[in-house]
Amino acid sequence: MNQPRIPRKRTYLLCPPEYFTVEYAINPWMDVTTPVDSELAVKQWYRLRETLLDLGHTVHELTPEPGLPDMVYAANGAFVVDGTSYGARFRHRQRAAEAESHRAFYEAYGWRHVSPTETNEGEGDFAYLPDAYGGLILAGYGFRTSAAAHAEAQEVLGRPVVSLRLVDPRFYHLDTALAALDDRTVVYFPEAFSPASQQVLAQLFPDAIRADEADAVAFGLNLVSDGRHVVLNSEATGMAAKVAAAGYLPVPVELSELKKGGGSVKCCVAELRP
Ligand code: ARG
Repeated sequence: MNQPRIPRKRTYLLCPPEYFTVEYAINPWMDVTTPVDSELAVKQWYRLRETLLDLGHTVHELTPEPGLPDMVYAANGAFVVDGTSYGARFRHRQRAAEAESHRAFYEAYGWRHVSPTETNEGEGDFAYLPDAYGGLILAGYGFRTSAAAHAEAQEVLGRPVVSLRLVDPRFYHLDTALAALDDRTVVYFPEAFSPASQQVLAQLFPDAIRADEADAVAFGLNLVSDGRHVVLNSEATGMAAKVAAAGYLPVPVELSELKKGGGSVKCCVAELRP
């Protein structure tokens, strides 16, 4: 029998895809020769925003900047726990300036913001489970975020950080391979992790939902859940069926254009945890 899946109101930060294009390729999904329908990208993004608002969540917006086409992937700009934002330091120079916009946002809102020394791409590579072991951070490394940033995040945020090594370049951020469905439950694609990291995940989360490769390539792990409603890419039908079988309510959204940049729902959404 499934437990009741209770939603919790969330506060999110998003950035409209006004300047979104694929003009460089820094992950295997990006192909500069595939055309992007910018108008459709904007339309799909507004549907995503409406979906989060309709579910009763609060949405803040970052002002997009010309010359920063990946800024729509707002998850990468920082990682926020208990009112402290641990800032990003991007791996690739093309995205480096995004960190400054995020810093300005947090400071304007009066949040405690800590600028990092180590390379890390914010919530793209960090997940938080407030109700697991009293508050647990899961962190990915191998492609973007450095393992040293995991230790730095632990020092800044004062929560235990579990380091997980990503090994498949298609799943270059943690949020393409693992997601928190609620405050203690995760779903993940085991093969995206090193054998030892798979062992760590199996030990910590024996009851986790496991995704397969089809779920992962459909960006089915790149989801946003409020504990009950699971907003995910409409192409991820297999993943939708798995979360439904576990008692959650899948809420599919179309994000075909943003997928061309190597991201989906979660990449576009940063959670602000007061
Ligand atoms: N084009 C972006 C990059 O490669 C996509 C980022 C996706 N974000 C995420 N949280 N997975 O950096």
